[in-house]
Amino acid sequence: MFKIVPTPCAVADFVSDLLLQHIERKPTTVLGLATGATMEPVYAAMAQKIQQRPLDVGRLTTFNLDEYLGLPAQHPQSYAHFMQRHFVEPIGLRAQQVNLPDGTCTDTAQECAAYSQKIDAAGGLDVQLLGIGSNGHIGFNEPGTPFDCTTHAVELAPQTRRDNERFFAETKMVPTHAITMGISEIMAANEVVLVATGAHKAEILAQLYESTIDERLPASILKQHPNVKVVLDEAAAALLPSHLLQAG
Ligand code: F6R
Repeated sequence: MFKIVPTPCAVADFVSDLLLQHIERKPTTVLGLATGATMEPVYAAMAQKIQQRPLDVGRLTTFNLDEYLGLPAQHPQSYAHFMQRHFVEPIGLRAQQVNLPDGTCTDTAQECAAYSQKIDAAGGLDVQLLGIGSNGHIGFNEPGTPFDCTTHAVELAPQTRRDNERFFAETKMVPTHAITMGISEIMAANEVVLVATGAHKAEILAQLYESTIDERLPASILKQHPNVKVVLDEAAAALLPSHLLQAG
């Protein structure tokens, strides 16, 4: 379940290979994707490898985990904009291949239901890529989210807004709400790859390792998933038992 490599660069190399091999085996792969600082080197490595060794990505479909409510796709901090910059353009996808919840929707419940249906209609997710919040969230499923939820609107936890402050000019500009894929959709993916890098993730990963399955730590549900990989750099793995580090 754990794959620990020395650096964020080695994490990006490992995860990008894993995803590209999947697409090579199945060009119609349905990928669940995340945004955030952890994913930037992963997507950069994918784009670089595709340039060196062309791959048919024309039949790929992607579904992002989440989007801030209130931010239009053109907003530089929207997740649609992040994906455009870091994934869609560098990898060369067409707009129709890429799905994110609409942060400017007027009927949130309807948008969430439509997003869930679209995932179903695509046949579900082959691989779901996840980061982890410092409070243990996956997607924007904050602590306390019921494990059986599908795509829904959430109020972001104060910790999440603080963590994401760095991307905005002022704290008050960090959105308060978002739409996120639900835990049941994440758990229905055939394969889940959780990625974390950096010393600031060490504490939550140690908690995750120790924890029983508990809604207060959303990522703990992954212990029930039959095919999950947790890919870490040594800094993020620093508080895990040393036998995991030695196993590599
Ligand atoms: C983003 C997402 C979040 C992030 C998590 C870690 O789409 O779903 O769960 O993966 O907050 O973010 P970073 O990578 O910025 O530490």
